[in-house]
Amino acid sequence: PLVPVVLSGGTGSRLWPVSREAHPKPFMAMPDGESLLRKTYARAALASQGQAPLTVTNREYFFLSRDTLQEAGVTGGDFLLEASGRNTAGAIAMAALHLAQTRGADAVMLVLPADHLVQDVPAFQAAVAQAHALAEQGHLVTFGIVPDRPETGFGYIQKGAPLANGHAVSRFVEKPPLAQAQAYLASGEYLWNSGMFCLGVRTVLDELARHAPDVLEACRRCATDLKSRELGGVHGLEIPDAAYQAVPSISIDHALMERSDRVAVVPADIGWSDIGSWTAVRDLSPADARQNRATSDAVFVDADSTYVHGEQRVVAAVGTRNLVIVDTPDALLVADADRVQDVREVVAQLKQRQ
Ligand code: GDD
Ligand code: MG
Repeated sequence: PLVPVVLSGGTGSRLWPVSREAHPKPFMAMPDGESLLRKTYARAALASQGQAPLTVTNREYFFLSRDTLQEAGVTGGDFLLEASGRNTAGAIAMAALHLAQTRGADAVMLVLPADHLVQDVPAFQAAVAQAHALAEQGHLVTFGIVPDRPETGFGYIQKGAPLANGHAVSRFVEKPPLAQAQAYLASGEYLWNSGMFCLGVRTVLDELARHAPDVLEACRRCATDLKSRELGGVHGLEIPDAAYQAVPSISIDHALMERSDRVAVVPADIGWSDIGSWTAVRDLSPADARQNRATSDAVFVDADSTYVHGEQRVVAAVGTRNLVIVDTPDALLVADADRVQDVREVVAQLKQRQ
């Protein structure tokens, strides 16, 4: 079977003040009213013929995630619950160990971050079918997106020889510096790593044993000691925190994708975006003739390229240019649109105050 594994452990601090620890990015409503997590569950169900997903997330998000899963019309589904995250290698290793026990080592995982948007779901389903076939042949399958800018927040995949359903990968480089990203973009040989993966349980456990044995061993000690909680028809499994803290904090991209020679890529033209910053959210809404956008009641007077997201009040912008304005009942963000990556600094400073 193809089992969706949904990762939603991060807080998304660049989307402050809407994304917070108590209400992180996967639960944020998009302009159509649905959250990213709900959309992720819905497309996971379509791509896996309704297999119940395994969610790896923070304990704090268990109830909210379970409600979202039910809203998406999915029944069943296990939750692996972290007290605090150890990055994606640990989360994926825990998922693989759990599925080896419950579904067998022949199961294939479709790993989906909970904070991505995919606009073309039929194309996504087709890409997943190709990836599934490659994963069954023992590849660690990535989904490659044609890059349109030298983004330094993504992994870059150099396409190698063609395979039956995609390409071998000659090189995987996680988050290169700008000059390197520019060279990759110019070469036309690289795709972005979407951060979604299709991984055979046996393959990923073998490759972790080879390339990240410390992560795998530490996770094995946790997997034998999961605490089960039955809540509203949904199965929650708490990962023992003290043992989990011994798992090295490393991403799957650094731990495995950069090191393994079994990585393959399926090019995926699926309308993908990582909703990582306010300008990414902004670009989901239509613009007026002067490139202003709003997802709530807004008044623009002689404004250009101004984005407004309000929650309760009317927001007016007069003579502004290239701004992002996000108004919530207890916090207001006003940012230069070219500086939205630095919104995470706001969260860092607020944390220091506590
Ligand atoms: N459960 C759990 N625990 N989930 C986690 C943890 C953790 O400790 N850390 C991260 N996640 C989740 C995040 O919530 C997100 O859904 C997903 O795993 C990926 O983590 P990010 O932190 O968002 O990774 P990234 O965006 O910096 O980089 C990855 O995605 C890019 C595309 O968006 C990489 O795979 C890049 O290569 C890729 O280009
Ligand atoms: Mg991300």
